[in-house]
Amino acid sequence: MSSCAFGMCDRQAIGASHYPSILLLHSARVMSLLDTNIIWCTNTMNTKSNKSNRDQSRRQFIKNSSLAAAGMAAIQLPFASTAQAASEAEIHIGLVGCGGRGTGALMDALGAATKVIYPQSGYHTENVAEGAKVEKQNIKVVALADLFEDRLENCRKQLKKLGIDVPKQNCFTGFDAYKHLLAIPKINYVILATPPHFRPEQLKVAIEAGKNVFIEKPVAVDAPGVRTVIEAGKLAEKKGLGIAAGTQRRHMACYREAIKRIQDGAIGRIITAKCYWNGGEIWVIKKKPEWSDLEWQLRNWNYFTWLGGDHIVEQHVHNLDIMNWVLGTHPIKAVSGLGGRQVRTNPEHGHIFDHFAVEYEYPGGVWMFSQSRQINGCQNIVGEEIVGTKGKSNCRDRIVPLEGQKWRHRGKEGSPYRLEHEHLIASIGKGTPINEAQAIAESTMTGIMGREAVYSGRALTWDAAINATHRRGPEKYEFGDYPTPPVPMPGKYRTG
Ligand SMILES: NC(=O)c1ccc[n+]([C@@H]2O[C@H](COP(=O)([O-])OP(=O)(O)OC[C@H]3O[C@@H](n4cnc5c(N)ncnc54)[C@H](O)[C@@H]3O)[C@@H](O)[C@H]2O)c1
Repeated sequence: MSSCAFGMCDRQAIGASHYPSILLLHSARVMSLLDTNIIWCTNTMNTKSNKSNRDQSRRQFIKNSSLAAAGMAAIQLPFASTAQAASEAEIHIGLVGCGGRGTGALMDALGAATKVIYPQSGYHTENVAEGAKVEKQNIKVVALADLFEDRLENCRKQLKKLGIDVPKQNCFTGFDAYKHLLAIPKINYVILATPPHFRPEQLKVAIEAGKNVFIEKPVAVDAPGVRTVIEAGKLAEKKGLGIAAGTQRRHMACYREAIKRIQDGAIGRIITAKCYWNGGEIWVIKKKPEWSDLEWQLRNWNYFTWLGGDHIVEQHVHNLDIMNWVLGTHPIKAVSGLGGRQVRTNPEHGHIFDHFAVEYEYPGGVWMFSQSRQINGCQNIVGEEIVGTKGKSNCRDRIVPLEGQKWRHRGKEGSPYRLEHEHLIASIGKGTPINEAQAIAESTMTGIMGREAVYSGRALTWDAAINATHRRGPEKYEFGDYPTPPVPMPGKYRTG
């Protein structure tokens, strides 16, 4: 188990001492060649009926390319045959949620190096790195949408450093900003990077509008949101649209190879698994007198379950996603869970917990143990481990059989934050779009189920958890009073 998952960690603090290493990850790196063999994706689009939709969507994508605009017949172009050719199609991006990760994801798609800043206080920002250039000339930024003008303008300013000027008329603010952006026909690729609460509805509208989508993780904060994402994923499949999620480990060769070996039997029958995101505190946005309750919560969203899902969902989803991936399914039950709010107890920390421990049961009697913590000064562990009848693995780059030779993945990895866009774009160009909606919905739900078991202090089955009807957050989005919800009390809190 590594104490820091360099090259595969969420862009959030795992302790101040790790910042320089995280920055290294995002320094300009020579990218590895695009992998055209995306067999590991959860793409189930092999039916005939879906093929025509897929072709239609691909034609639309190609139609939007500069080559098509130059009058060349798309059918004569070899887009479908190689990833290189696919990457030549012109992509018109719209970004919804122009904060740290949204700006960073835009840079990653453009192939421009970012400088990540994880502050102790103030916003998580991803600025253009010194000397960064746009590597992907076929990618154009068409429009930006954010709830707040100041955050949108910061992103716009970064783009200007790269010589990209998004015109004012294509910059939208407010709660309906995403609708205006999604109404622009030219946009064929949308990045959704708001706080997770808004993702289900925004994904649904994006797919209905016929856009390919990159969605940041997690994708919901409650079961109704998860169900919306699953439905949007099915609709995307019918329409031949691509959806990739910000669970970047799925785009790393080391994880893909290790997990394939495990699934091919390298460690025998799986018995137990465990995963951790035990790290430090993340930033806080202090309330300003001129901000209403709702505005402050929206700016300090990590600390409110209705906005971020609590850190077992918001951050630990990366590790839970690996567990579901390697075990080939989601858990059937959260058998037991403990957690609380022991250190981060100030009002600025909203009402979320600072530590969770959950015992999950998977089909076939496989046990999975999960821990997540955001407390400074403790031992940091971020990673996964799986134990089988014939050995064990970290699911990433090491397999240790009880007998025989150990296996290690060696070789350089490109930035997974870039690869996730390259893979999505290549898959669309080839006419076999990636669709990670179901996988990320299930991983998000795994976190939600664990959280609800811990909040309530009771076991919870998958069926009960995913069929829950309680939708978190205000009915109507309006700046004004919105008191911090109470801290969930195990024994009293009831999941719904
Ligand atoms: N994959 C990763 O490794 C990774 C790393 C960091 C963050 N993330 C995820 O990215 C998402 C954003 O996180 P962040 O750190 O960039 O947060 P952030 O606060 O920096 O950015 C969120 C942005 O969304 C805007 N916003 C809020 N509500 C909105 C709405 N209704 N409509 C439009 N815009 C809205 C905010 O004003 C802000 O600019 C989260 O889901 C987070 O979990 C993923």
